[in-house]
Amino acid sequence: MTPAQGKLDLREGFDEAGAIKDDFRRAVLEGLGQRPKWIPCKYLYDARGSALFEEICKLDEYYPTRTELALLHRHSDEIASLVGPNANVIEFGSGSSRKIRILLDTFEKPAAYVSVDISREHLLQEAQRLAVDYDGLSVIPIHADYTQGLEFPASVFESPRVGFFPGSNIGNFAPADAFRFLQELSRSMGEKSGFLVGVDLKKDERILAAAYNDARGITAAFNTNLLVRINRELAGDFDLAGFVHEAPYNAEKGRIEMHLKSVRPQTVRVEGHRFAFAEGETIHTESSYKYAADEFQALAEDAGWRPVACWQDPNRLFSLHYLETA
Ligand code: AVJ
Repeated sequence: MTPAQGKLDLREGFDEAGAIKDDFRRAVLEGLGQRPKWIPCKYLYDARGSALFEEICKLDEYYPTRTELALLHRHSDEIASLVGPNANVIEFGSGSSRKIRILLDTFEKPAAYVSVDISREHLLQEAQRLAVDYDGLSVIPIHADYTQGLEFPASVFESPRVGFFPGSNIGNFAPADAFRFLQELSRSMGEKSGFLVGVDLKKDERILAAAYNDARGITAAFNTNLLVRINRELAGDFDLAGFVHEAPYNAEKGRIEMHLKSVRPQTVRVEGHRFAFAEGETIHTESSYKYAADEFQALAEDAGWRPVACWQDPNRLFSLHYLETA
């Protein structure tokens, strides 16, 4: 007898692997030619990068994952009653499925789970597992870059929609881009949609610095893996010993920044193009913005969302917001 299970719905045309590869080439060649040099953080997530990020989530210093998991456990009943029955759950940047399982376990008869992720192997693997584990759930993986705007399959509009954007991934957008993302999402999800979003809070800078400069060097490996990816996919010749991980807190901008710093003057080739580095020059590889709870609510409200609930842990490390479209 085959076990009861949900249905895995693989849609052709939603796999943007080719476009994502072209974007990577363009972003790297453009970004390395600019001053300061920068590469968008979404390219940190190849297969190894995604695996290293999972390791980061388990680190003692990296409080966001366990704090958000605890908030989800503690408030899942309340979240489920706000969401209601038969919801289509849409997750952005799904990664590991630990968080979504908490929601799928408490929601009343969720209809579909749509997961949008740039990391293909990860996406399909988790989608398959969820389809096996959740009876009656229709699982729709979409391999895409959610920062490029998104149209959902028509079936998504047949029942109420709730978006899920955990991990403070929204912090990777500059505030103006977060505003545009929220605004575009309120349009594409439509009336009476819910949105559950995890947002990392402003806090003591020492806690932030430790979270992005862990003692075991996993975050450094995650950051440096971007150079490994460029060497492999774009015929690069980065000397890995020539760059070091740096992650300072920029208090003025309210963000952690990740950089790869050149330890000496050097020239690097990528697909035949030459890029010169001065000693100490960096490639900016990620910004991770932190928000006070009311600061985020004001941003969401301006972008067309009504703040309905905000949960925080007792130490005020992390916040979980529930928003609804008007
Ligand atoms: C993917 C946004 C959750 O900014 O904390 C972890 C990624 N970068 N350590 C974050 C990350 C370095 C991360 N998010």
